[in-house]
Amino acid sequence: MTILVTGGAGYIGSHTVVELLNAGNNVLVLDNLSNASAESLKRVEHITGQAVPFVQGDIRDSALLERVFAEHSINAVVHFAGLKAVGESVQKPLEYYDNNVNGTLVLVDAMRKAGVFRLVFSSSATVYGEDAPVPYHETLPRGRTSNPYGSSKAMVEQLLTDLAHSDPRWAIALLRYFNPVGAHESGLIGEDPFGVPNNLMPFIAQVAVGRRERLSVFGSDYATADGTCERDYLHVVDLALGHVKALDFLANHAGVHAFNLGTGQPVSVLQMIRAFEQACGRAIPFEFAPRRAGDLPAFWADATKARQELGWVAERDLARMMADTWRWQLQNPLGYGG
Ligand code: NAD
Ligand code: UFG
Repeated sequence: MTILVTGGAGYIGSHTVVELLNAGNNVLVLDNLSNASAESLKRVEHITGQAVPFVQGDIRDSALLERVFAEHSINAVVHFAGLKAVGESVQKPLEYYDNNVNGTLVLVDAMRKAGVFRLVFSSSATVYGEDAPVPYHETLPRGRTSNPYGSSKAMVEQLLTDLAHSDPRWAIALLRYFNPVGAHESGLIGEDPFGVPNNLMPFIAQVAVGRRERLSVFGSDYATADGTCERDYLHVVDLALGHVKALDFLANHAGVHAFNLGTGQPVSVLQMIRAFEQACGRAIPFEFAPRRAGDLPAFWADATKARQELGWVAERDLARMMADTWRWQLQNPLGYGG
């Protein structure tokens, strides 16, 4: 099979390209490098010993997509490309709707014209909205989202659902990621955010390596066991393997199918700090700060459906997530540019 991977130079995309190649597929990566470095793909080539064909371009460029589908015999698409910073999405809603919603429209239109109907989409736990009971289960309706990023994911889920209902040839997986962390065990690829990290894991790792002085823990008075927020952190390699399983599943299942990809275990911010300290053998200086606007106290996955229908479970534990993050950070203190 040849898989087009949009956003394949990014954090989750690059790890997924490794696992797609390991599973015997061919890949073609399409990425505009707005939030990634082509160096990640060179590292993927090093890890897998295989060439990674790469087109630098934008998913909103319909002429480019037409060319890509005409020149390559694509069987399926794994679609990561998009913008993902929650806070930035509030400042730049049009950019988020354009890249995430319009970009997906242009992509699926090109797929339809090319006769490619198998698609795996990067969705998010954020589509359950602000009021959903935990753990989140796929039978819950999509909820009220609190920012343009989350709304863009919910809109894309809806448009893909309508599309699948319009034509029985479509086979679409909506993969709802919880909180991906970690890095490939080689330490060659990992998460390399531009600027100050928004997310907890890369921030902790940059404090550990001395790039940042201390972590701010946003909120200490939540109604959780230790007062800090709880999330369902999963290893990015487990998440990548979920995409391989989803593609296998779609080979025999038309229609649209949502799956939670998480461990099912809530972990607090303080537990994350302690676990990282164990892995790196250094203290992580932190201070408590006010709550961050928009944060939910606690959410985690019910991942039973992925286990039963995809045969997927997250196998790598928290210690492994931390050890692999630390190896990546230590070997690449300045990320791909270092
Ligand atoms: P990332 O920013 O590392 O990867 C996204 C990639 O898409 C980047 O390489 C970027 O250059 C590329 N891109 C962006 N807009 C593009 C466009 N218009 N055309 C072509 N390429 C474009 O992010 P990631 O963490 O790897 O996330 C991948 C996907 O998973 C995103 O859709 C994100 O919303 C989703 N997701 C991520 C998380 C998370 O916590 N990381 C959680 C839930 C969902
Ligand atoms: N946190 C801190 N300090 C920091 C950064 C984060 O205390 O410097 C806390 C947050 O307040 C939150 C927890 O760490 O309690 C996790 O925060 P992240 O920003 O790492 O992750 P979120 O759960 O906020 O959001 C992530 C992705 C979203 C996605 C969501 C659900 O960023 O894109 O998971 O999948 F929608």
